[in-house]
Amino acid sequence: MLLLQLIHDEGRDVMVTVAVTPEAPGETRVAISPETVRKLVALGCKVRIAAGSGARSRFSDETYRAQGAEIAPSAAEAVAGADILLKVRRPSVDEVRGLTSGGIAVAMLSPTDDRPGLDALAGTGATLFSMEFMPRITRAQSMDVLSSQANLAGYKAVVNAAAMFEQAVPMMMTAAGTVPAAKAFIMGVGVAGLQAIATARRLGAIVSATDVRPATKEQVASLGAKFIAVEDDEFKQAQTAAGYAKPMSEAYQQKQAELVAGHIKAQDIIITTALIPGRPAPRLITRAMVESMKPGAVIIDLAAERGGNCELTKPGEIVEHGGVRIDGRLNLAGEVPVNASSLYAKNLLTFLELMIDKKEKTLKVDWEDEVIKGTLVAKGGQIVHPSLQPKGA
Ligand code: NAI
Repeated sequence: MLLLQLIHDEGRDVMVTVAVTPEAPGETRVAISPETVRKLVALGCKVRIAAGSGARSRFSDETYRAQGAEIAPSAAEAVAGADILLKVRRPSVDEVRGLTSGGIAVAMLSPTDDRPGLDALAGTGATLFSMEFMPRITRAQSMDVLSSQANLAGYKAVVNAAAMFEQAVPMMMTAAGTVPAAKAFIMGVGVAGLQAIATARRLGAIVSATDVRPATKEQVASLGAKFIAVEDDEFKQAQTAAGYAKPMSEAYQQKQAELVAGHIKAQDIIITTALIPGRPAPRLITRAMVESMKPGAVIIDLAAERGGNCELTKPGEIVEHGGVRIDGRLNLAGEVPVNASSLYAKNLLTFLELMIDKKEKTLKVDWEDEVIKGTLVAKGGQIVHPSLQPKGA
């Protein structure tokens, strides 16, 4: 039987208040768009946005107001007594304390980082949902923030690489001679990698790609790129039920390194996106491989946030080694903030629709729903997510 909990007491002002506050200075994205304001208002919510929250995504206070939002002069006034706080990154303890008792905060909490900070947030008694934990089931695709953001990051990685590369990407046959097509190699063919392949193909590069999940072989071919991988028995078992890669054995990684080493030498652009949830990024490009590349080649390491797929990557920086540039800049989705915010806000709206009773216009959370259970990190002062419990507990 479904366990439905009505959060609001009868007789109280039942309108659900949704608050949005500005992100920290390095974050360009915002958790609400004019479109999602309109839809939340249509659902019967009151939407309160701190002034200037959308500025870095080109959403002015005026556009928000035109869709029915209230603009609050400060973050504190936006959250005061609100039921739900929407953020891109982890909110501060002060912001969450401003919510109504047992209020809800929804964000990319980065729940495996800074545990004391997460404990402090949980200690406020707020209900915390982490969008990165969205189960990878068909029903949840429209709420999958990792996908919506990785897709844009994959696109931007190729655009950045093309801008840094001091040669043209497509082949050009001109009266003055032929410009050769650039060779691009995509390592890791998840959501970001697939978009990187598609974008590099659109720019006219000769594209190849590698992954450890067998399901990617056909996807790569269908995008017109060449697939390169060690296809042994381990490769055939490399996908978890959740659709993610498993950590590969030392022996496999050695074979993989030997195979790609020869290929990497000839590449002009490499985009790396390989990740394994909850672990450091696998090392796929060694110093020696970088040294084998031509001066002027570019590596964009989308795994920089998890330590990088390239041995020489410095997270947040562009470094040069023997004429090869390795770009470890973080948050590429944030470099296309208008789209990134619009898609992220839409993911959050779909998630909130699950918790809002459209008839009663109140919050009704089904704590047994797979999507709610999967993303719930803290409730009633406790961290409740199974993956965040102490080992052996
Ligand atoms: P991710 O960001 O965790 O990893 C990126 C890629 O790196 C993956 O394809 C992974 O196999 C690959 N990788 C890991 N270790 C590697 C190594 N040693 N060498 C080469 N590649 C390596 O993955 P992402 O993009 O989040 O998605 C993975 C898959 O999950 C998708 O392609 C899709 O099949 C599935 N998915 C399902 C969704 C749903 O049903 N709601 C939503 C999004 C994704």
